[in-house]
Amino acid sequence: MTQDIFGRFDEHVVVVTGAASGIGAASMELFTKAGATVVGLDLVAGNGVRSCDVSDPDAVHAALEEVVAEYGRLDVVHGNAGVNVPGRAHSLTDVDYRRIMGVCCDANFYLVRSGVRHMRERGGVFVFTASMCGVAATPRSPAYNMAKHALIGLTRSVAVDYGAQGIRAVALVAGPVHTAMVDELWPEGPLRDSLIAATSAGRLSTPEEQARAAVFAALPDSSYLTGGVLTIDGGATAGWNEMASRMLTLTGA
Ligand SMILES: NC(=O)c1ccc[n+]([C@@H]2O[C@H](COP(=O)([O-])OP(=O)(O)OC[C@H]3O[C@@H](n4cnc5c(N)ncnc54)[C@H](O)[C@@H]3O)[C@@H](O)[C@H]2O)c1
Repeated sequence: MTQDIFGRFDEHVVVVTGAASGIGAASMELFTKAGATVVGLDLVAGNGVRSCDVSDPDAVHAALEEVVAEYGRLDVVHGNAGVNVPGRAHSLTDVDYRRIMGVCCDANFYLVRSGVRHMRERGGVFVFTASMCGVAATPRSPAYNMAKHALIGLTRSVAVDYGAQGIRAVALVAGPVHTAMVDELWPEGPLRDSLIAATSAGRLSTPEEQARAAVFAALPDSSYLTGGVLTIDGGATAGWNEMASRMLTLTGA
């Protein structure tokens, strides 16, 4: 795909959140290869990534204003920053609940609120890294599941409210991806194995596979793709993969 996208985003300005690591870093790299001027935002600055706590509405507004003041336009926003803290509802603290909702959900609303005003003339695209947790519940993640479901709602709202201005929105239903988040929450061993068993692919995704979907969604000729999800989950939400592998073993079929 890399060759196909060379030059496709020439003169376009792209903002990627959560760009210091994992999917965001891969997205920043691929949009750059495709010709875009890319500004990364993250808690951690460095390597071309600017410091911004995306759960802070004023910080998001200031960051987008700065980008437009500097480069004169805003074409694509990839809202990708995310965090999770494992635990069922009864054990989730207020601080952790607010942090998860702030980064995974509220931040993307702030990106839309501050970003659309710069896209109204020329159009633009919001790509959000949602998750398979946006269409089904992963265990021990009530706030994360809520936030990712809400993100798909935001995607639909943007499509409906701003379609006439040429603004599109797409939510990526990402399956398990080998990033720092998975290394921390699903360490190698039985926990990691249970995550992999939920997929048909029988492996984790690479961050690059998710970045390709983000770039595809944002391509100017993906022009009829809006208001819905793009599923890159290795079949995790397609059906009962773990049951299938047990049944196939039991029946020998
Ligand atoms: N890894 C997976 O299995 C998986 C699956 C589905 C969806 N996702 C989603 O993909 C996105 C990227 O996650 P990842 O897997 O690359 O994890 P990651 O931990 O490698 O990257 C997440 C990035 O978000 C940044 N971030 C966290 N809080 C922030 C804040 N307040 N302001 C700005 N940046 C902040 C972190 O510093 C980090 O660089 C997240 O939205 C995550 O929910 C991940």
